[in-house]
Amino acid sequence: MGINGFPKDFVIGTATASYQIEGAVLEGGRGASIWDIFSHMPGRILNGDTGDIACDHYHRYPEDIALMKEVGLKGYRMSVAWPRIFPQGRGKPSTAGLDFYNRLVDALLENDIEPMITLYHWDLPQALQELGGWGNRDTTDYFADYAYTVFNALGDRVKKWNTLNEPWVSAFAGHYIGRHAPGMRDAALAVQVSHHLMLAHAKAVEAFRQSGRDGQIGIALNLYPMYPASPSEEDERAARFADGYHNRWFLDPVLKGTYPEDMLAIYRERFNAPDIRSGDMELIGRNPVDFLGINYYFRKVIRRSESTDILQLNEVKPEGSEYTEMGWEVWPQGLLDLLGRIHKDYQDPRMVITENGAAFKDEIIMDGVVQDEDRIRFLQGHLEAARQAIAEGIRLEGFYIWSLIDNFEWAFGYSKRFGIFHVDYGTLERKWKKSAQWLKKFIEENGLN
Ligand code: GAL
Repeated sequence: MGINGFPKDFVIGTATASYQIEGAVLEGGRGASIWDIFSHMPGRILNGDTGDIACDHYHRYPEDIALMKEVGLKGYRMSVAWPRIFPQGRGKPSTAGLDFYNRLVDALLENDIEPMITLYHWDLPQALQELGGWGNRDTTDYFADYAYTVFNALGDRVKKWNTLNEPWVSAFAGHYIGRHAPGMRDAALAVQVSHHLMLAHAKAVEAFRQSGRDGQIGIALNLYPMYPASPSEEDERAARFADGYHNRWFLDPVLKGTYPEDMLAIYRERFNAPDIRSGDMELIGRNPVDFLGINYYFRKVIRRSESTDILQLNEVKPEGSEYTEMGWEVWPQGLLDLLGRIHKDYQDPRMVITENGAAFKDEIIMDGVVQDEDRIRFLQGHLEAARQAIAEGIRLEGFYIWSLIDNFEWAFGYSKRFGIFHVDYGTLERKWKKSAQWLKKFIEENGLN
């Protein structure tokens, strides 16, 4: 054990994703992704924002790494853009694309920052979308090939991997709600896509084992502890469904190799999906993860739904709570509840918080520093919950704050700021926020640098 209750090798890092920060969408031979196409469609993104320039991290990564170093961050969770490696999604890998990530990884390691790479943070090559995207089963094989290429290229130095980021969002926000690329609204397709994502995940884990690289591989799931709005049987049932839809549908295949029976029955009856072929569950079952990545932002309080659309959850916003700029309730206890529940229900897996953080207004600047006391309180509360979980014997190994710098917040464009560093989108200048100064102290005081 290290100082103040965190294990000595506990990693505090920050997290980002390629499309949200890189920009330079036409450089290095990069192909288009579904987010390039989607963000350029009128009306899809707030203020018509796109990731064309984003934070220009593609060129400014040395400066961003220097900031991490200055804070004393030990880890950095980043994603590789599939269309930089395979501009058409498959075929021959691009040397320029691989070179960019080679340089980035080397620069991180030179600064004693350990990279954790996510292979898919939503930027599917558009060329594959034109073949049916994640609705096409072949995409799972293209993903495994891409993953294998990246393990080969970077796996001598990168020891921590995530296959996918938030498959619920790719499947349901992308194919049912339509708020994310590719912007479809088809529940049956979304369910089918979720199965293909689980297959792709398992194939990538298998490719990792076959690559012979050492290290650990996991997946980052967006999970929400669910609380019924009242003790009534209907609310309890609604909360259980919400848990199945968001959490168990992904936790069970990843950690137990099966889909939850109740959800499978509902999806089959309502949507006649998913189509699971022979051998699929075997493949998923024989490829367990080394650790589970958890993206935790808030809890959900669920009331029984009046709607006939079963996927339309009836969420309640508790009064008197604090909410972030996203309208998300600040609820650190939820992190502890969530970790405790997974520890108990899934036989004590190793876990990492792959994302936690908050968007606030960030309007007050004093002496060049953004005064974001609300973000400090948010991070402090959640880091304390993590410390508590460790004290309770939960195997939590790291905590990656979303995000290092303000960035392209998907459908909200640049209107929501999550960074511990501020970005001026006119000049692309980075500015310290008070939360980054606070974090530097927290890391020092807890011996985590
Ligand atoms: C997650 C996502 C990130 C980031 C964050 C804040 O769902 O993985 O890319 O946008 O939410 O909304």
